[in-house]
Amino acid sequence: MSRKFSILIKKKINKFNKTLNIEGDKSISIRSLLLASQCIGKSKIKNLLESEDVLHCKKALETLGVKIRKNKKIYSIYGNGLNSFKVKKLTKIYVGNSGTTCRLLAGLLATSSGKFYLHGDSSLNKRDMSRIIVPLEKVGCFFHPIKKKTLPFTIEGTGMPLAQKHVEKIGSAQVKSAILLAGLATSGITKIEEKIISRNHTENFLNFIGADIKVKKLKEGNIILLNGQKNIYAFDYVIPSDPSSAAFFITMTLLTPNSKLLIRNVNCNPTRIGFISILKKMNAKIKILNLKKKYGELIGDIFVESSKLKPINCPKKYTTSSIDEFPLLFIIASILNGISRFSGIEELRHKESDRIRNMEKGLNQIGIKTKSTKNSLIIFGNPNLKIKRKLEIDPHKDHRIAMSYIILALVTGGPIEINNCETINTSFPSFLKIIKENFGIKYEAK
Ligand code: S3P
Repeated sequence: MSRKFSILIKKKINKFNKTLNIEGDKSISIRSLLLASQCIGKSKIKNLLESEDVLHCKKALETLGVKIRKNKKIYSIYGNGLNSFKVKKLTKIYVGNSGTTCRLLAGLLATSSGKFYLHGDSSLNKRDMSRIIVPLEKVGCFFHPIKKKTLPFTIEGTGMPLAQKHVEKIGSAQVKSAILLAGLATSGITKIEEKIISRNHTENFLNFIGADIKVKKLKEGNIILLNGQKNIYAFDYVIPSDPSSAAFFITMTLLTPNSKLLIRNVNCNPTRIGFISILKKMNAKIKILNLKKKYGELIGDIFVESSKLKPINCPKKYTTSSIDEFPLLFIIASILNGISRFSGIEELRHKESDRIRNMEKGLNQIGIKTKSTKNSLIIFGNPNLKIKRKLEIDPHKDHRIAMSYIILALVTGGPIEINNCETINTSFPSFLKIIKENFGIKYEAK
């Protein structure tokens, strides 16, 4: 990780009327690299997000012998087909902070005959991996040490994987995708019964590149069927902008009087934009324009205007489709007049940090009253928030918490100092540059 620094914000942002293009979607960037590595031929990817998480994925694939080159903003990935990783006696792979790289790659390694030692940074090494270990062991691979639920561990892949039926109850796209990626090199049909629908980029991507995948809609959830051991072939792909990154500037616009913002070419897959549905229920003026299907995903322009928002009793049905945007929803709720309630959000305790606990800590420091349980948070908003002396926020090395507090500082005027802002590079390396160059915001970086 890059050099540590803090950002001090002492002034409110002025009104604006802007158009933005922002960086590529992190989930799709990681999937594009992993899938290209399993294709036959040279895939070309444009607008790949160059954040630390994605670069760790690229590095991991290179460690496994995949050739990746960049020329004039286009990445070329030279795939050698299913099960083509170069295998040594023991391959050591560092995945940094990237839970998505770790869990999805584990799916591919599960069916590669070899031993792979996976390790991450101090935050990733604490996150639960039993959610992928249990289903991948059923395919026939081994994890060492036995019964360990966290990184580091060694995966001993199997050359004779067995197709499985899995019931996915967490609502985790990472778990679902790990199983699907293992299913690619497994003969027969890998079946997933998805009880809670999560982001479906892996399914969309596999469908786009011609894999034998079917998704059947149930009354609640989906059945996903993947027929494995079928060759997949190289593709060209343009990654859309990340709605989870757009969310920071959507929030900033809603909370800055007399402002407008258009964000172009954003991934508007319904499994990702629950945040917008929640905001609309809070009276947000948001429109999605020019919606079209490209590369198997829905892409649109998001137009947002400053709005007089009201507190929310957040419907649970939006939890998975807005899972990474809760820190921002908490920030919004904290400066509204009234009480907001969020329930069914236990998964937030298992992200890059415990996002219920760590967001609550920061809000309490600022003088916002909160009440939490294992899976809920109540926020007693205060529209007249006055921060008298400089507050220091610790984002607990969590990129989304750091950026959320920067937005809070900008719309309230601070003074707030956010520590460890280097963590922002995990998902959105141009965040601070956009703030400075597009919105003319002055901040002190220390
Ligand atoms: C992701 C899925 C989500 C999300 C994460 C990215 C993905 O995690 O929080 O930031 O790309 O599949 P879970 O699948 O664990 O919910």
